[in-house]
This record gives sequence, C-alpha cells and structure tokens, in this order.
Amino acid sequence: MRTKLVAGNWKMHGNLATNQALLNRVREASAGLSCGCAVCVPFPYLAQAQASLAGSKVAWGGQNVSEHGQGAYTGEVSAAMLVEFGCRYVLVGHSERRALYGETDAMVAAKFAAALQAGLTPILCVGETLAEREAGITGVVVTRQLDAVISASGISALGKAVLAYEPVWAIGTGKTASPQQAQDVHALIRARVAESDAAVAQGLQILYGGSVKPGNAQELFAMPDIDGGLIGGASLVADDFLAICSAA
Ligand code: PGA
Repeated sequence: MRTKLVAGNWKMHGNLATNQALLNRVREASAGLSCGCAVCVPFPYLAQAQASLAGSKVAWGGQNVSEHGQGAYTGEVSAAMLVEFGCRYVLVGHSERRALYGETDAMVAAKFAAALQAGLTPILCVGETLAEREAGITGVVVTRQLDAVISASGISALGKAVLAYEPVWAIGTGKTASPQQAQDVHALIRARVAESDAAVAQGLQILYGGSVKPGNAQELFAMPDIDGGLIGGASLVADDFLAICSAA
C-alpha cells in the first residue's frame, strides 16, 4: 500500500514574515496528518524552513538543483548544499524550468542523478503541453521524459524517487485535469515502469499537479494511481494547503 504525499511548490513567492506564518501553521497542523507532507521553498528560505520544521512531520526541499557537484557555475546550487540544509526532496524538471530555462530531458536526467547521488529524493516532474495533448501525443511526451531518466540512472533509481505528473495546461491556469484524465496518464506511467520492474512500479508514488485545490483534491486522490499532489498556488494559503493534506 503506497502512502500519499502532498508537496507544496512555493515557486518564487514569499518573504520571511509570510513564510513564518505559513510554516508555523503547517507545522502545528501536521501532527494530525496521516499523509506525507513537504514544502519546496526558494533557496534563501531553506534555513528558515529547516529551523521551523525540524522535528515535525513536514519535510522540506528545493525547487531545482545543479547537475554539477561543484565548480564555476555562477548562480547554481548543488545537491550537497541542499543536503546541508536538511532537505529531503528536490523538484527536478518542473515544466517552468523546462520551458523558461531551457532544461532539456538530458539536463533533467543529469539533475535527477546528482540529487539521488547526494541522498536527496528527487520529485521528477513530467507533463505535456496543451498542443501536445491536442495532437494526441501525451503518452509519447511523458514516456520520453521518463525514459531519459531511466536510461541515465536505471530503473532501480525510480525506487528512490517520486514522480509528479503535471499537465502544463493545468498549471496555474485553474484548469484541472479531470480525475479520469489524470488517472489515465498515471496508469500509463506506472505501466511503463512496470515493463522494466514491477516492484518499483508498485511502490512508486506518482503525484498529480496542476490547479489542485481543496475542492478537487479528494476526487483526484481517490483515483487508484494518484498518490498525492504537487501543489503550487494553493500551497501558499495555509488553510488551502492543509485542506488538501487532509483530503490525502
Ligand atoms: P498550481 O502549480 O497548483 O499553481 O497549478 C502546480 C505546480 O506548478 O507544481
């Protein structure tokens, strides 16, 4: 039986004061939660997240990581640095990184490998654009994104990772994939992994992301292959994020 995980992706939002209020609320409420819970915060706030959440049920992580170990890479943050701030998770291959910062499948695969090697749990994001869905190639796109990581790190690496299916057309748009649309892609991903390793597929947490709200979380999380959510906008509002956690 897979446990559910709800991870917040704060993106480039927050300040010390608003973060503190949010972290305090999430920490207080987390004692009563039966699902896993995490927040992925901007790099400068990792120390704040660590100080606020250490010893609680809530894990924290980064939103990106360098594929390199160290060196002359101005502006980059290594996996080892994230580990020093107590991170458990790191997002890898979020569609905003792919679309706005030119991250290719190969770069995402290298970042995934770097995160894993440092002992982090990568949350690998995959998903199709609206044009790709309308062209009927959702499965092709998601499989290509997944296969890049499997061929770089091997199938057993997925046993130490989390996947997030995030249709690009549903991110920040208020348009959620229907539970059945999401379930279909989650089942396809699991089947693809099962072709290589049935046990890894069975244990793999696959989160859904894209306009998850308190009002739609329960029906999404009720689907057999949806193991929780990656939450953007709603993770910035304590009541909404906690309601989504309760739904899980
Ligand atoms: P959203 O973002 O919940 O605001 O749609 C999800 C994400 O980008 O991870």
